[in-house]
Amino acid sequence: MSSNEQKKNAALKAAGFIENGMKLGLGTGSTAEYFVQALGARVAEGLDIVGVPTSERTRAMAETRGIPLTNLDETPHLDITVDGADELDSKLRLIKGGGGALLREKIVATASDRMIVIADVSKVVGTLGAFPLPVEVIPFGSTATVQKMADVAKEHGCEGEIRLRADEFGEPFFTDSENFIFDCHFGSIPDPDGLAAALNRIAGVVDNGLFIGICSFAIVGTDKGTDIIGQ
Ligand code: 5RP
Repeated sequence: MSSNEQKKNAALKAAGFIENGMKLGLGTGSTAEYFVQALGARVAEGLDIVGVPTSERTRAMAETRGIPLTNLDETPHLDITVDGADELDSKLRLIKGGGGALLREKIVATASDRMIVIADVSKVVGTLGAFPLPVEVIPFGSTATVQKMADVAKEHGCEGEIRLRADEFGEPFFTDSENFIFDCHFGSIPDPDGLAAALNRIAGVVDNGLFIGICSFAIVGTDKGTDIIGQ
């Protein structure tokens, strides 16, 4: 079975947790898109929900699926956010931001009572960090900011290349909030809690892709169906 089938299994299971009247955060990425598809099918059958998309890409997809949308200014408190992850460990700590949407994803997830992560089994790791950690950085003075990020990372046992993310034309990638993403190739992150807090204390860092204490439980798609971590 392919990882896409596993993603679909996780997304379908998550759609079963959604009830009439809920206000939802809609994640970004291929797994979250399977969830948006499944949710759209339930809306077509009469499910009454409203969603806040975590990216322009998800907004466009939700609109084509007929999902009613709002935003956090109109609806500042959500019931559940369903989103994917690049990595997750047994303590439900995540790396997110592979799709470049980590800032909106974190704002929406933390405005929600619960965050359900959906992922294929390859995303479950013993130690976070094989996937490069994305950090969203203000373009102004970004070289100075990155030097401070490298110093702080070293203090927390992490070393490796910190690379400006480029788009498909080789130009700097800009987030939906017009910032840069720097991908930190650390290989492993021995102290995710300490690193996440320290990175966010640097002026110029908007946020980093470590989600700590945010995920309520994870639905992991497998070849046989799904496993739940943390419920
Ligand atoms: C986007 C994300 C995604 O959730 C993450 O990259 C997983 O993507 P996919 O479901 O395509 O594997 O954090 O910023």
